[in-house]
Amino acid sequence: MQVQTQQLNEDKMMAFLGKVVDDFGASLSTVLAYMGHKLGLYEALAASAGMTSGELATATGTTERYVREWLVNQAAGGYVAYDAATGRFSMPPEQAEALTNEESPFYVGGGFYVIKAMMQAQSRIANAFENGGGMLWGEHDPDLFVGTEKFFRPGYTAHLVNEWLPAMTGVVEKMQAGAKVADVGCGHGASTIIMAKQFPNSRFVGYDNHAPSIEVARSKAAAEGLSDRVAFEVATANDYPADGYDLICFFDCLHDMGDPHGAARHAAGSLAPDGTCMIVEPMAGNTVEENFNSVGRTFSGASTLCCTANSLALGGPALGAVASEDALREVVTSGGFGSFRRATETPFNRVFEARL
Ligand SMILES: C[S@@+](CC[C@H](N)C(=O)[O-])C[C@H]1O[C@@H](n2cnc3c(N)ncnc32)[C@H](O)[C@@H]1O
Repeated sequence: MQVQTQQLNEDKMMAFLGKVVDDFGASLSTVLAYMGHKLGLYEALAASAGMTSGELATATGTTERYVREWLVNQAAGGYVAYDAATGRFSMPPEQAEALTNEESPFYVGGGFYVIKAMMQAQSRIANAFENGGGMLWGEHDPDLFVGTEKFFRPGYTAHLVNEWLPAMTGVVEKMQAGAKVADVGCGHGASTIIMAKQFPNSRFVGYDNHAPSIEVARSKAAAEGLSDRVAFEVATANDYPADGYDLICFFDCLHDMGDPHGAARHAAGSLAPDGTCMIVEPMAGNTVEENFNSVGRTFSGASTLCCTANSLALGGPALGAVASEDALREVVTSGGFGSFRRATETPFNRVFEARL
């Protein structure tokens, strides 16, 4: 096909090419940021008042020549600062907080693990574009499971107890008195553990069909001294025991599922008569074009490489990470819930309440 160059607007072309070059740099920098976490480069830099490449290499037991190149990339991206007078690199407090403090609500380090893992899936997913099928969650690079927990936990720490549970009708009172809670698709159990710490009178079971994640969740609960009130079991969203739960939660997982309608039906049948289902989903628009922003770009990218592929591997409807509220309502109400409403939201999550 011949491109009609006379119709090209030069300013628009330059603006677009500039954006693409930004993306080239950003994409490569995500890999270098992942390496910065794995090699302890950010931590060492954050703990110092400033370092040359040689000092950083010595402090981390790494090779100076690589570190020097890495630092140029990091300074060019604004992840570290550079003092040309001393030749030292340092981390401004905001960057140090976001990249090295895993307990901070601003921590974003997990995202680099997720991106690194999802990039490994490229050839499998490209094959599925051509030949159909998908890729199961458990078939991904294990950094996906580590990164998901690291990436979502700060948001859960910041919002779950203080905003999301209070937005559910009467749930906090029940949990304070002693409630039965199921966390379906719990992964490494970050949300389960946060709730269990806050509500010692309640009992929690995290279910996930990915056995290695359940092993990790069990060891995290044991390390927190929560084994008296938290259990983690391998089960699918369609076959965990229907124990009359006061609260059933789905954190960032309903849209991934091969049979979300069945999961909603099983949740409806597993609740106590006045129980509540809380469904936390990624932020997304109600129309396609409402996703044309950084958050929509990120979630639809992750969805292509992971969420959509998991559901399609199971012959599912592939709701995807940018499922509209209408699509989610259809799934949940078709499962037997009488009400479904958006109870609250953050820039990254929509939080829905469903009741029988
Ligand atoms: C994106 S991860 C979210 C994990 C966790 N809820 C969190 O927020 O950190 C999706 C999780 O859903 C689980 N999952 C997907 N389909 C499932 C199903 N049908 N039954 C149980 N778990 C499922 C996956 O194994 C994975 O751990």
